[in-house]
Amino acid sequence: MSEPILEVDDLTIQYRTDAGPVTAVSDASFTIGEGEYFGLVGESGCGKSTIANAVLGGLDPNGEVVAGSIRYRGQELQDMSESELNAAVRWDEIAWIPQGSMNSLNPLETISEQAFEIAKAHTDMTRAETMEKFRELFEIVGLNESRIDDYPHQFSGGMQQRAIIALSLLLDPSLIVADEPTTALDVIMQDQIFKYLDRIKTEMNTSMLMITHDISVIFESCDRLAIMHAGQIGETGTTEQLYDDPRHPYSILLQGAFPDIRQLDRELATIEGHPPQNIGDVTACTFADRCPWAVEECRESAPELEPVSDADEFHRGACFRKDEIHELIESEGGDVTSYETGAVDGPSSN
Ligand SMILES: Nc1ncnc2c1ncn2[C@@H]1O[C@H](COP(=O)(O)OP(=O)(O)O)[C@@H](O)[C@H]1O
Ligand code: SF4
Ligand SMILES: [Mg+2]
Repeated sequence: MSEPILEVDDLTIQYRTDAGPVTAVSDASFTIGEGEYFGLVGESGCGKSTIANAVLGGLDPNGEVVAGSIRYRGQELQDMSESELNAAVRWDEIAWIPQGSMNSLNPLETISEQAFEIAKAHTDMTRAETMEKFRELFEIVGLNESRIDDYPHQFSGGMQQRAIIALSLLLDPSLIVADEPTTALDVIMQDQIFKYLDRIKTEMNTSMLMITHDISVIFESCDRLAIMHAGQIGETGTTEQLYDDPRHPYSILLQGAFPDIRQLDRELATIEGHPPQNIGDVTACTFADRCPWAVEECRESAPELEPVSDADEFHRGACFRKDEIHELIESEGGDVTSYETGAVDGPSSN
């Protein structure tokens, strides 16, 4: 992997609630290389936005990093004050496309005015310099440069999202954290966004932390990924590894649950049940109640994230049965669309 730009190590984040501390992220580790697109994927509530918010120092007031580190180019971000983060990191090093960002454009201001506000707050760029740069970025995301002075409502949803991506690139950040950037868009709009994200990657060498609940989005746009379930990373590896050889049952079912553009006629799997809310320490596999292959051991302790083979330490899975999972599925007929929640003995009979 190229030089690491973001290193997240053993990160544990809790929220204080009336029921006690909720562990929203437990022991999460991953690294993003220079120029790399890294995906974080999992169902709603699994802790993705919590990680994104922690990277940028924007956790909700009742949230707290209770263990672990978040380093940007070797520097611990948690040691930086709000004003240091604002002056040195936000926008010009790490840009953020927050969840629901299409609603974050100010409807009363032109897009170009919003660009100048960002530039004014973080740099000494003049208005003319900002506009010149912003026109170039509009072109990179496939928008006509003559439209920089439009108001947000004059754009379609897909165009607004591309304008937001252009805004995020304004100060040449090294890393973009994009939280569900294509979720509100239809498939055609999503495809356009992927095309421009590819272009940004090749032309600007920007790194990306892409967060989404839709694994097919990650397979289309990222080099490597981590799959999260109930605050934990269940599996991590390259896109090829997780597409061709997923080892964690949740990765396998999640992949089966979304349409695959390489196999559009495939039946979709459903993952029944809901992830547990982790009150206090995690002492069992968090997928045990939903996993068709759960055994006694899975409820007695939590599996560690370990390499799936000696040959490659980057492909890791946190499952006691990761070495035998393919054989188990084959012996049961090879179809992952027919499982029922917690069917300990394998697929349903229908
Ligand atoms: N401010 C908060 N207070 C208490 N619990 C929270 C708060 N924010 C998020 N959570 C809980 O933390 C977990 C992770 O949430 P989140 O990071 O938003 O997940 P995701 O982005 O994957 O949907 C969920 O169980 C959610 O309910
Ligand atoms: S087989 Fe066990 S350890 Fe693996 S995901 Fe299922 S419940 Fe968890
Ligand atoms: Mg979220």
